Amino acid sequence: MKNHGTLVILIHMNKQNVIIHGDICYSKTQKELAVLENGYLICENGKVAQACPQIPELYKSFPIEDYTGKLIIPGLIDLHTHAPQYAFRGLGMDMQLLDWLNSYTFPEESEYINLDYADKAYSLFVDALKQSATTRALIFATLHTPATLRLMEKLESSGLVTMVGKVSMDRNCPDNLRQESADAAYKATKSWIETSLKSFKNTKPIITPRFIPTCSDELMQKLKLLQESYSLAVQSHLSENHGEIAWVKELCPNVSTYAHAYEQFGLFGTDNVPTVMAHCVWSEGEEEQLILDNKVYVAHCPGSNTHLSSGIAPIRRFLDRGIKVGLGSDIAGGSHLSIFKAISDSVEVSKMYWRLVAQNSPPLSLNEAFYLATVGGGSFFGKVGKFEPGYEFDAVIIDDSKIPTTNPLTIEERLARTIYYSDDSLIIQKYVNGKEIISGKTLERSMSSC
Ligand code: GUN
Ligand code: FE
Repeated sequence: MKNHGTLVILIHMNKQNVIIHGDICYSKTQKELAVLENGYLICENGKVAQACPQIPELYKSFPIEDYTGKLIIPGLIDLHTHAPQYAFRGLGMDMQLLDWLNSYTFPEESEYINLDYADKAYSLFVDALKQSATTRALIFATLHTPATLRLMEKLESSGLVTMVGKVSMDRNCPDNLRQESADAAYKATKSWIETSLKSFKNTKPIITPRFIPTCSDELMQKLKLLQESYSLAVQSHLSENHGEIAWVKELCPNVSTYAHAYEQFGLFGTDNVPTVMAHCVWSEGEEEQLILDNKVYVAHCPGSNTHLSSGIAPIRRFLDRGIKVGLGSDIAGGSHLSIFKAISDSVEVSKMYWRLVAQNSPPLSLNEAFYLATVGGGSFFGKVGKFEPGYEFDAVIIDDSKIPTTNPLTIEERLARTIYYSDDSLIIQKYVNGKEIISGKTLERSMSSC
């Protein structure tokens, strides 16, 4: 009886029940926002119960957090970023992908053999991610196990929900980033997966072949074994840059598209766990069909695609065909961690695509791009990205009164300005699974910095 009582108390303590009050806004559909001025958003057991104009009798006992006059939006999802590249973002932006990887990325990533260096750099990354509007993210680390576990520890204590990949590479990269054999990579990756599954609740391992050029056939076969044994999601890169695509053709003459180079190993969409491919700038025809058929997510990274002169991904066409799309910061191909910035970038590049490439491809509206950043990427994590019953309670509270204006604005207009300003210092609180994750101290710091 005594033990049973303890269990009940523990379960009760884990329940997240709260009501937040303010100006609520989320994507009802791909094109349409739902808006509730001065509304109440009810969180029961860490999930959205409802968004409503008055508090129903049933929930009158829940504590209320008053954010009157503040914007309340769903947490944003970063479907593709690289933690070890955060420290050099903004450098090498005159290069294209393969030169940039060799000149900046690989030398920087080889530093993560040094755990002190990794600790310092990963603290910068996690602090910034926590302070941003992102609540969930898919993250590449490096191949170094201790550094990757250190990153995962920091993410776990941040309160964010993430999937992290120890990066797999065994060819076409510097010696100090190359795993000595596919078998050694298998053993190291297996042990890292087991440690992380035991150690973390909100920080899950994800299978991460960097991209086809750096992964031998044998390594891909081993990664498939691990993916299947532990039922893990998969992340990688696809059809980002012309030079890269030509290289994959040379390396894999027997497959018809770059996507099939993953598909031949069973690493391009599986039945029960999702796969995401970053970029897909030049995906078309048979490859586009495989993305659709295998329900593979596209992580659209417009900032990175522009900086590295990769091109403009045909997102309107992907959406019209029913392909799943979310947004990614792709640090450090992208120079901003903010998914607000990725939203405005995705609208801007779609306008260029419409004007310069395909006049029958209307640009993304701001509402559509906001949808991609919330519901689009959110579905990778389950019921995430909306304030509808049963969705995970992930919310961001924004004090947009700090953006000066002379006229009163609608909630839609306030959201638009928040997106285009992309200023993390406007964020005053974040909830993930119903839990506040920004502490009073961090909050004070961010308020005094504006
Ligand atoms: N393709 C393989 N590795 C990378 C990377 O680190 N960044 C980008 N943008 N593309 C890649
Ligand atoms: Fe990337």
